[in-house]
Amino acid sequence: MVTLGPLDASHRGALLDLLRATGAFSPDEVAVALDLVDGAAGTPGTGTPDYEFVAAFDVDGGLAGYCCYGPTPGAQGTYDVYWIAVHPRQQRAGVGATLLDEVERRLARRGGRLIVVETSGRSAYDATRRFYGARGYRVAARLRDFYAPADDRLVLTRELGGSPSPAMRGV
Ligand SMILES: CC(C)(COP(=O)(O)OP(=O)(O)OC[C@H]1O[C@@H](n2cnc3c(N)ncnc32)[C@H](O)[C@@H]1OP(=O)(O)O)[C@@H](O)C(=O)NCCC(=O)NCCS
Repeated sequence: MVTLGPLDASHRGALLDLLRATGAFSPDEVAVALDLVDGAAGTPGTGTPDYEFVAAFDVDGGLAGYCCYGPTPGAQGTYDVYWIAVHPRQQRAGVGATLLDEVERRLARRGGRLIVVETSGRSAYDATRRFYGARGYRVAARLRDFYAPADDRLVLTRELGGSPSPAMRGV
């Protein structure tokens, strides 16, 4: 069982360990993920920040996983899930599903309409694609050889069925 809570700069070290342990992210990607946490306060006075976080903590308070998401710039009711990662020790125990469920619940409450996720088509990401597939995400676009030859960029989407409601932004 995990407890969900906010992620902030005090979790930076634990997040670094977690991201490295997954083996799924390049050093550059890890650096970007940490930068986002460092700047998590968003722009004061603008309501919803560009990047939002939810973290999952194990019974000892250790960081088991996290998800970073936010409103897609220039789109209405569309949100990107930028990062989701679960420590290998806790994978396949429902932590990722718990995090994604929470994000979807939050976004549906504020009128979110569409969730967009991008991932690689490489076989190393088979489990990641199965994870999203089991959560109702479908391949909306495939950009062949995008990341590198034989490394496609997949755009996965899931409709939430809500309608954008400006009054609900920031929930
Ligand atoms: C993708 C990831 C977040 C999933 O988290 P998780 O906590 O392991 O996932 P869950 O336990 O909630 O799994 C939910 C479902 O996803 C599928 N799934 C997840 N991992 C799987 C695997 N290794 N093999 C097959 N199916 C898998 C299954 O359908 C699973 O349901 P089941 O266990 O009842 O069969 C995690 O594997 C991870 O951190 N991977 C590395 C980082 C990454 O690729 N992130 C996404 C790109 S940003």
